[in-house]
Amino acid sequence: MKTKTYTITLLTILLLITSQMAPAQLPKETEAQKTQRMKWWTDARFGMFIHWGLYALPARHEWVKNRERLTTEQYQKYFENFNPDLYNPKEWARMAKEAGMKYVVLTAKHHEGFCNWDSKFTDYKSTNTPFGRDIIRDYVDAFRAEGIKVGFYYSLIDWHHPDYTIDRNHPQRQEYDTAYARLNKGKDMNRYREYMKNQVRELLTNYGEISIIWFDFSFPGKNGKGRQDWDSENLLKLARSLQPGIIVDDRLDLKDVEGGWDFTTPEQYKVTKWPEVNGKRVAWETCQTFSGSWGYYRDETSWKSPAQLLELLVESVSKGGNLLLNVGPTARGTFDNRAQERLKAMGEWMKYNNRSVYNCTEAPAGFVPPANSILTYNPTSKRLYVHLLAYPMGSLTLANMADKVKYVQFLHDASEIRFSTGNNETKNDINLQLPVLKPPVEIPVLEVFLK
Ligand code: GLC
Repeated sequence: MKTKTYTITLLTILLLITSQMAPAQLPKETEAQKTQRMKWWTDARFGMFIHWGLYALPARHEWVKNRERLTTEQYQKYFENFNPDLYNPKEWARMAKEAGMKYVVLTAKHHEGFCNWDSKFTDYKSTNTPFGRDIIRDYVDAFRAEGIKVGFYYSLIDWHHPDYTIDRNHPQRQEYDTAYARLNKGKDMNRYREYMKNQVRELLTNYGEISIIWFDFSFPGKNGKGRQDWDSENLLKLARSLQPGIIVDDRLDLKDVEGGWDFTTPEQYKVTKWPEVNGKRVAWETCQTFSGSWGYYRDETSWKSPAQLLELLVESVSKGGNLLLNVGPTARGTFDNRAQERLKAMGEWMKYNNRSVYNCTEAPAGFVPPANSILTYNPTSKRLYVHLLAYPMGSLTLANMADKVKYVQFLHDASEIRFSTGNNETKNDINLQLPVLKPPVEIPVLEVFLK
């Protein structure tokens, strides 16, 4: 009798513990199913990030509230003066499309907590500013009309919500643990977790098909926040249940959970090789700014040139990844001239050269890029693309490829590039006869038809 009660109690305790620990069931899928679900995205290679919120008014970084340790009261003037009268997302969508971008991700809410849609769960939203409009609604419609896949960025961090506890990344961060305890008294992260779920439900229910959600970001550890603070697994489960095809970034702190993320997100740097997790290549996207900050920054002068930006794109593709290139619209609602110029230049190049980007990936092993060049490869058409970063003087050698090459042309004008093969030990090399004059293309591309 005694042992029976003992076993039952033990079993109950075990059950209780496991039910607490048991991860929410994330939908199971095979490698192949995942690849299929993400195919449009990996084929697309190039997307637009848009960071837009109240921080467009101070115009000195989207982290301004944090950097300058502003209180919500001090920040309030930006809410009261938010009136982007020139907001016309059809223009944005046109510029994205002309640049060759196939998908878009807009900040629905950034760390400042301001919401770009008419959320039922807060007053801190665009519809309550002098502007009065649901920004997300018009955005979604405009980009969809251009055939661009629509996504949202949703900040896990929230420097406005009263229940969001002060942590080491907060504008009101502290020196001492006792100060954290004092300031966080009465704040209830449970309510904040509910708030996030309600908002994610709104965003993924009221705006039609949403292709991507970008949760940002986790910083576990002392005075930080991670998966427990966000209830990441349930948040993700909710997102996937509302939009089964949705593609999700890796910033929920669920790197070790099966189905916990779809792609990894190297931010503002070039990877040295195709990123791997447990020895396996993974889907990845680098997010990059034109100039350093994500929100509109009036006085920043470190803008990348069109050639650098194109190199970034091609580089990413050459290692099997995507580029999400960011625009920070102004507080009038427009893309600033510097952004427009760069998008235009990229579009001009893409118009003639996008075949080396879309549906392309890393070249098969054994293809060695000549000096100052980047290779991409389309496995379906079996074409290799050689991007000439520094234009050579009249000739270029493709080493050890003669047995593989059928035909070579410039991509931008489909003009033939004649070639000869070497002798003796170089007889498998191809010597291309290029015009001495660099063609009028930012980065000329050779299209190599393989056997
Ligand atoms: C960072 C920053 C943020 C930006 C994001 C984009 O996590 O906090 O301002 O939105 O990266 O990747």
